[in-house]
Amino acid sequence: MNYSGALEAIDRILNRGGEAEDVLRAVADVLHDRFDHYSWVGIYLVEGDDLVLGPWKGPQATEHVRIPVGQGICGAAAATGETEIVDDVNADERYLACFPSTRSEIVVPITFEGRVVGEIDIDSDRLAAFGEDDRAFLERVALLISPACSAPTSTRIQR
Ligand code: SME
Repeated sequence: MNYSGALEAIDRILNRGGEAEDVLRAVADVLHDRFDHYSWVGIYLVEGDDLVLGPWKGPQATEHVRIPVGQGICGAAAATGETEIVDDVNADERYLACFPSTRSEIVVPITFEGRVVGEIDIDSDRLAAFGEDDRAFLERVALLISPACSAPTSTRIQR
């Protein structure tokens, strides 16, 4: 897996700059297009007590465009500020189903100045698709894009 190549591509996107929405869309595209096991990639942004879907790339749209912090795997990661890796979504009762093909999921919070401001949510059609290498890579991506995700209405990390 070419994690360093993807990081370089994301670095180039950030150096190019521009509207936050366009930057985040380009990053979602890179993640989706460069990794076969990243079936659907979305970036959620915190608005008040909700996660609101921003740029995403995948075969189809999700109905979960607004998720309350605390609900689902997405909401759990936002509430704790900790990455969630779920090897088998059908065995996790927190799971909010989006696509019938999804088997596993990783959700990586994006923090800025001590607050969760968003998260990277990736669904895979493969069981147990995400490992520690994905976690390390995506936590690095989250750090890189955090300034582009910071909003005035971000929520505090609840520990
Ligand atoms: N599965 C997520 C909801 C978002 S979709 O995967 C796009 C969850 O359980 O929070």
